[in-house]
Amino acid sequence: LANTTRPTAAATIQGLGPTSTDELTLIEGLQYEVLLKWGDPISEQDHYGFNNDYVAFVPLSGQDSEEGLLWINHEYISPMFVSGYTGTSERTKEQVDKEMYEVGGTIVRVRKGSDGKWAVVYNDPLNRRITAKTPMPFHYPKPIAGADRAIGTLANCAGGVTPWGTILTCEENYDSFYGERDWKTGGLTGPSHYGWEKFYDYPPEHYGWVVEVDPRTGDSKKLVALGRCAHECATVKELPDGRLVVYTGDDANDECLYKFISSKPGSLLEGTLYVANLEKGRWESLDRRKQKALRKAFKTQEEVLIRLREASKLVGGSLLDRPEDIEIDPVTGHVLVALTNNTPKGNYHGSILKIVEENGQYDALRFSHDTFLAGGPETGFACPDNMAFDPAGNLWFTSDISGRSINKGPYTSFGNNGLFLVPRQGPQAGQVLQIASAPMDAELTGPYFSPDGRTLFLCVQHPGETSRSLTELTSHWPEGGSAVPKSAIVTISGPALERFQHRV
Ligand code: FEO
Ligand code: CA
Ligand code: CA
Ligand code: CA
Repeated sequence: LANTTRPTAAATIQGLGPTSTDELTLIEGLQYEVLLKWGDPISEQDHYGFNNDYVAFVPLSGQDSEEGLLWINHEYISPMFVSGYTGTSERTKEQVDKEMYEVGGTIVRVRKGSDGKWAVVYNDPLNRRITAKTPMPFHYPKPIAGADRAIGTLANCAGGVTPWGTILTCEENYDSFYGERDWKTGGLTGPSHYGWEKFYDYPPEHYGWVVEVDPRTGDSKKLVALGRCAHECATVKELPDGRLVVYTGDDANDECLYKFISSKPGSLLEGTLYVANLEKGRWESLDRRKQKALRKAFKTQEEVLIRLREASKLVGGSLLDRPEDIEIDPVTGHVLVALTNNTPKGNYHGSILKIVEENGQYDALRFSHDTFLAGGPETGFACPDNMAFDPAGNLWFTSDISGRSINKGPYTSFGNNGLFLVPRQGPQAGQVLQIASAPMDAELTGPYFSPDGRTLFLCVQHPGETSRSLTELTSHWPEGGSAVPKSAIVTISGPALERFQHRV
């Protein structure tokens, strides 16, 4: 790739400073169009869900950059907007049913018109919603908590794309919906944040997985071999012999980084899961047959996979500062991991970790590591989250300072959340430039480029999330006026973007 990239001729970009306006602000030379916002119909039956996060564009043929399918995650809900639940009375089943529809994912066919504008192909037969009510099997030879299928997917945060064009969507903070198992009593550890368990007694073990979705058919399955935790993302690398390596992080304070290495080409079923030990520079096996400590603590390998957080500590997994998105640098081959923050430990600004696999082999069991970029006032960003490389190998990443903390305390100098660019080449190579700034309370999520790099799909998630009521809104984006805020996916294009996509 490096050989096919030309230096960008005098393309000096003037980055944004911190902003605190209720708008998606972009640098000069870029513009955005809202493609879909919460509630917009995609077909006669279905509408676009709440709180869009990860997005992937899958061409319907080859490297088509003007028509394809979008997969978009819908991570969680703000009940006040979705169901009207405000906490002043008991949640009803009708409210829970409404909430269950709004999470999961959207598959929608999109097309670029002759005017250069993207539009949804309304009612296309491929358009569909996957929700917390969509049944899907476990991709595993044994049942999970007594069942061979789960009802629905939820907490879908970030994700990845497989070499065969399916989507990996990751169930992150699953315990907010049906709670978590108390392994000592067999009951739940307590009522969950959303309290769906009051009406639906689905086992917590059915959530917290990486889910594979075929965007052409909607077929979905839960990938048990990748373990169960608050998965942020799943980033796939295909080895020369067709076996797969999948990196995934558990986004919570002092949780771990994992990689799955398949034992057969193309398999997300057969293989071994490892956890990173940074101190030793080693990937430690989570195979019960290979680890005495796991045999002592767990009766079966399913139990190891279900109780992955406990298992990883028993084999020496390093406690990290909330591993979020993972991307593989297409030029250096390094594995970048956003460590967003660890506020109880005094890490407010986060960093991006660089993992260098031994001899550049992704199935290596040894690695070295270093800090690639540190957040803070000097670099102008805090709390890195989603990342993407564009086709010319420039790194783009977003920040996620939580809505309640924006412009406060250690975050005072950063303004609203943003989208940042680290150019690969040219006069600003290696600098951190802010390209976009989010509306009030929002984070920007899921940056994803069309194959030609001319369109950047970006989601604006949870604008106005800290609103105290429908009459005290902190954001009206994107519709303005007195409208309720709505998460939305936008397409970004313009000459400033094209300047970074010079390829021979
Ligand atoms: Fe849903 Fe870790 O972000
Ligand atoms: Ca995230
Ligand atoms: Ca990413
Ligand atoms: Ca985050």
